[in-house]
Amino acid sequence: MPGPGRYRGLRAFGKPKDTKKTVRRLASYLKADTGKLAIVFVCVIVSAVSALAGSYMLRPVINGIADGRGSIAFLTRSVAVMGLIYLSGIAAQYLQARIMVSVGQRVLQTLRDELFLKTQRLSVRYFDSHYNGDIMSRFTNDVDTLGEMLNSTLVQIISGAISIVGTFSLMLYTNFWLAMVTFVMLPLMLKAARGVAKKSRSYYREQQRALGELNGYIEEIVTGQKVVKVFCHEDIAMEEFERHNGELKSKQLGAQFFGNIMGPVMGNLSQINYTLTAVVGGILCILRGFDIGGLTVFVNYSRQFSRPINELSMQMNIIFSALAGAERVFAVMDEEEEADDAPLALSVREQDGRNVWEVPEGNVKYAFKKENPDFHAEIVLQDVSFGYVPGKTILKHITLYAKPGQKIAFVGSTGAGKTTVTNLINRFYDIDSGSITIDGVDIMDIKRDALRRNVAMVLQDTHLFAGTVMDNIRYGRLDASDEEVIHAAKMASAHSFIMRLEHGYDTVLEEDGANLSQGQRQLLNIARAAISKAPILILDEATSSVDTRTEKQIERGMDRLMAERTTLVIAHRLSTVRNANAIMVLENGEIIERGDHEALLAQKGRYYELYTGLSELE
Ligand SMILES: Nc1ncnc2c1ncn2[C@@H]1O[C@H](COP(=O)(O)OP(=O)(O)OP(=O)(O)O)[C@@H](O)[C@H]1O
Ligand SMILES: [Mg+2]
Repeated sequence: MPGPGRYRGLRAFGKPKDTKKTVRRLASYLKADTGKLAIVFVCVIVSAVSALAGSYMLRPVINGIADGRGSIAFLTRSVAVMGLIYLSGIAAQYLQARIMVSVGQRVLQTLRDELFLKTQRLSVRYFDSHYNGDIMSRFTNDVDTLGEMLNSTLVQIISGAISIVGTFSLMLYTNFWLAMVTFVMLPLMLKAARGVAKKSRSYYREQQRALGELNGYIEEIVTGQKVVKVFCHEDIAMEEFERHNGELKSKQLGAQFFGNIMGPVMGNLSQINYTLTAVVGGILCILRGFDIGGLTVFVNYSRQFSRPINELSMQMNIIFSALAGAERVFAVMDEEEEADDAPLALSVREQDGRNVWEVPEGNVKYAFKKENPDFHAEIVLQDVSFGYVPGKTILKHITLYAKPGQKIAFVGSTGAGKTTVTNLINRFYDIDSGSITIDGVDIMDIKRDALRRNVAMVLQDTHLFAGTVMDNIRYGRLDASDEEVIHAAKMASAHSFIMRLEHGYDTVLEEDGANLSQGQRQLLNIARAAISKAPILILDEATSSVDTRTEKQIERGMDRLMAERTTLVIAHRLSTVRNANAIMVLENGEIIERGDHEALLAQKGRYYELYTGLSELE
């Protein structure tokens, strides 16, 4: 199903990647747990050192037995000491694992919180241009892979590093020349590890990206399932899915392949190292009198030496998916938020039952509002131009006045820009030029949440949340009482159908009101706006799906509601806009006619055409 939005999700991946920066940023999340991490660090040292010390104990024991000095008592004592050393190592490991899990989970929780908070602050533009599924994938897959890394990998890195350094030091101490063999092999091993890691890193990044895209696609098809069925696009949807799925597979193949060959490559190199060490060690024993206990311990170490390198390189899988995931999480966090409010932004507050402007100290521009703070909700658009994308102007030089309490209607053909006008008034998008003022206050100078609190909106696409009917209406004003909810429902003509539902107002709605008819959903959305005390009301095609009789009823209910509010109403049915104070006829983003119903009819222009055309149909 190719569409204009097909690849919009890709935009976020175009940025250059900076692993170091990602790691540093991740580390900043661990700062709060510095104390716990210090304990973990000590535990890791204890367990790593105990492993080293435990195996070093073998040297005196074997030498003792080889010398013929060994007795059962000597053996028992030595084994007991070794046992104690290993036990303390196990205890430390247990403690460290427990602490690390709690630290890791806290970081994940914080990340998810921040990510969610961020999504709440992103502009409508962001959601309009990204796949929902891809955004969700960042909350799930990407955060999960990060969790996997925090749980085990971090500790592995530290303990690996300690083991490598400790083992090598002990090797040097045990036999300098023999240690040189490993010393020669080391760069080879590191180089191999780095080579493979580099290759897999890019695959892991690609893998997370492909996963996000696949999720985006699934989400799109699942939500659009009915449309897919109506047009019998199952096969095409499947094809497209297979393309995404194939893409993911190929990236995963690469990622897993390079992730998996790391082990064998390192394993083979370590075997070579082991053999070389054994041969050279044997020669040293024979020619230089190197002790057997020393050789045993040394070959043990040389094995142990490659183990952490091995393990670390195996962990690369996790590290790279996690870093790729973290990058995607941070990419969202770095997205531009809705523009900040002006520093001295005004707000509107209720005082003695009326709305008043509240002007912050130091705001000179609107100081006069302090004398006369009454909020009347007069809306003025002055020469407003706007486009969703640069270079493509949608609204051109729109100028209009809505006096307090007036009802202004917008009519015009599909795509004329009616919804766009309303998107600007509550600042879903900011205008390119001109100005929008409420009571003479530029909306850019009004606190965004104060602005939105004062604009009740019935959006063109309805949305209901999972929950009861009562909750859904109350969403419009959380402190509304049950009586107020019912009153609003009556005003929106929703009461009678709600009472016919099995559990009335306590009926649980499925997500987006799937168990209601389209018209019923609209009625609930109107009730939600009706319950709000906002003095500005915007109705975008609010009654397009209800029958004409219900519409008449709503109109009657709404008349009272609109009486105290400045209302902007968009409707295709001209019968609903008839009694508006002024009607704006929009065409191609311009107001081509304006006036009241009678005047516009007399003008015999576009409105007349629209109106009579529709009347003929009716
Ligand atoms: N999010 C968006 N991004 C880019 N362009 C958009 C976006 N929303 C709308 N447009 C474009 O803006 C123009 C006006 O759209 P708008 O939704 O305002 O029309 P409308 O008058 O409300 O139409 P309708 O009667 O069908 O609801 C259209 O040409 C549309 O393609
Ligand atoms: Mg519209």
